[in-house]
Amino acid sequence: MEKIVICGKRPLNGTVRMASMKNAALPIIFATVLVGERCIIKDLPDVSDINLSLEILVQMGAVCERNGRETMIDTSSIDPDTDIPLELVKKMRASYYLVGALLGRYQKARVGYPGGCDFGTRPIDQHLKCFSALGAKADVVGGYIVADAPDGLYGSHIFFDAVSVGATVNAILTAACAEGMTVIERPAREPHIVALANFLNACGANISGAGTDSIKIRGVKKLHGTLDGEMIPDMIEAGTFMAAVAATGGKVTIENVIPKHVESITAKLIEMGVTVETDEDNETVTVERDPDKDLSRIMVKALPYPGFPTDMQPQICALTCFAKGTSYVSEGVWDNRFRYVEELIRMGAHILVEGKTAVIEGGYVLKGTEVTAVDLRGGAAMVIAGLASEGVTAIDNIDLIKRGYDDIVGKMKGLGADIRLVTFPDT
Ligand code: UD1
Repeated sequence: MEKIVICGKRPLNGTVRMASMKNAALPIIFATVLVGERCIIKDLPDVSDINLSLEILVQMGAVCERNGRETMIDTSSIDPDTDIPLELVKKMRASYYLVGALLGRYQKARVGYPGGCDFGTRPIDQHLKCFSALGAKADVVGGYIVADAPDGLYGSHIFFDAVSVGATVNAILTAACAEGMTVIERPAREPHIVALANFLNACGANISGAGTDSIKIRGVKKLHGTLDGEMIPDMIEAGTFMAAVAATGGKVTIENVIPKHVESITAKLIEMGVTVETDEDNETVTVERDPDKDLSRIMVKALPYPGFPTDMQPQICALTCFAKGTSYVSEGVWDNRFRYVEELIRMGAHILVEGKTAVIEGGYVLKGTEVTAVDLRGGAAMVIAGLASEGVTAIDNIDLIKRGYDDIVGKMKGLGADIRLVTFPDT
């Protein structure tokens, strides 16, 4: 069994480059199924969710080749009736983007019910609602999402009841080639929605308004491949490194980041007394904290973009353990995203979870011990806690961290952390 082992209390210093954003890359990878021609995508991150999504496409008959920075994906001869093993689709959430992509191209789809991190109930009612609105019959049957539009797909007016990244992606994929105009009201506004729209537009789609509160899609008959699929930098990876520097002290310049995307994180760090600066060209963010100066308490609520990202909620909670006074971290997206708190308590943190709010009494000394990554970002929170705590922290279940972080150990080590991957015999 592999663990991340950290000897804490070392400041982080230097420069680190972020990978591309996993959650933007996944919709684009599955969108190539809709495109149906050869596409080249640049700078896919090397994380297990991406490798798994490519494996799913290969199982369906696609050709996927990684050559340095470029990945070629050719879905021209996939078999839409492939029964992808359930254990593959259940390893991630984004596999359900296949439903929108297959439905858009073949007017039918049958895909195993997805998995993903456990944040309590993760309904898909808004996905089913958009498939139906566009003319398909869609339901969950015996562990599969099944959708069928024998009479074709037709543009429609969709008003989402919940702001959902996944349902917005599926609505865009389903509507891109539907006949007529689709308007999506109350869509998710995350940068990955904009990245997907840009990619599909480069393939001949007609999508406008992505990133605003109304998306318009005029359906086109056919899409074509592109040689220029661009990725965007990973704002959650950047936020994780920003929080880590704030926790340990030091000075780190983060490259390959869009400062606007991390604004809500920057604002909270500044409130805590951390210096965060953007360079003149708006291409890097530098985070600096004097380890001898106390961090101030904060109140933060995770919300859909442009609010503070729920995918940074565990990391900011870990950081507030090192601030003076009582901090409040509320979750406004998921029912139950505080499973990692018990692991922080194991290290000596004083946290009480009341409903959807964690109340953190900061300033107690945290000491390293054996902890678990309960999910992807909960695992990143344990890395931050370990880096800033006394003694040795050993994190297990790190496959969950590898789902979304491209070489977090190597990058932290490059900044001066005492961190390594250690293989222990299985017990
Ligand atoms: C994506 C991200 C995940 C992030 C989340 C919110 C990927 C692969 N995952 O997940 O890391 O935490 O966005 O930023 O990109 N909802 C419904 N009905 C639905 C769908 C969602 O009620 O049909 C609710 C959910 O219960 C949740 C909220 O909407 O409360 C947001 O969910 P959603 O944005 O869909 O999350 P994902 O796309 O699954």
